[in-house]
Amino acid sequence: MPNNAVKAIENPDILEIISIILDFFPENRFQYCSEIIHSINKNLKRNFSLETAKTRESYVLGAGFVGRKEELAKLKEHLDIENINKVFLIKGKEGIGKSRLFMEFRKYCQLQSIEFLEANCREKISKTYAPFIDILNDILFNASKEIIEKYGSELKKILPNHKLFSEIKANPTQEPKTERGILIQSITNFLVEYSKQQNAKTVIYLNDLHWADETSLEVLQELMYKISTIEPKSSMI
Ligand SMILES: Nc1ncnc2c1ncn2[C@@H]1O[C@H](COP(=O)(O)OP(=O)(O)O)[C@@H](O)[C@H]1O
Ligand SMILES: [Mg+2]
Repeated sequence: MPNNAVKAIENPDILEIISIILDFFPENRFQYCSEIIHSINKNLKRNFSLETAKTRESYVLGAGFVGRKEELAKLKEHLDIENINKVFLIKGKEGIGKSRLFMEFRKYCQLQSIEFLEANCREKISKTYAPFIDILNDILFNASKEIIEKYGSELKKILPNHKLFSEIKANPTQEPKTERGILIQSITNFLVEYSKQQNAKTVIYLNDLHWADETSLEVLQELMYKISTIEPKSSMI
């Protein structure tokens, strides 16, 4: 609930945004920076870009990256191949530098305007679909109306409170196995179509996959199958 200082804000559109930021319950607050920017754009009729040259530059100014030239070169070299649809599994002991290698790779992708989607799997949060919920949350505002309408009534089941789905009715719940199958198809088709819509290469990075829930691994498996049969032009790694 807004405190007194917040109540002093007269503009209801700003008040709405501040109240969400300060909501007592963390789950009611904005979960992603892109949601805040989207609300500012909508409420205040602005047109801020979800990613700017400044945010990209902030990665460049981060702490120095040492060595790992060969590993990084290998990842970069695949981006240059036309119609590459690949999955890389990077494994190694804790602390050896897997995540850091991908932060460096992310920087490289972002400077070239290659879509880099990422999610972290967490030990204590083995919530079904967790990494894919994070990825979808990040990209929904950038997705075309067409694919939101096409997949919204299924995706709403895992993102029931997403603003873009407020006008969409979730499909009726099926028997668990069928339900899972349909959702897996919807998530993977959505990602593939989203990637095509970007008309550029898309990288999906799932960090700490060993913590992922079983269903997310099934989604990944289906995605791997789909990207192996993807049409030329847009590519996924
Ligand atoms: N090549 C590197 N250059 C600089 N710092 C690194 C490098 N690789 C790892 N680090 C640092 O070492 C620590 C552990 O690396 P991290 O990537 O988190 O390991 P992992 O993901 O394999 O468990 C982090 O603080 C990270 O920033
Ligand atoms: Mg790590």
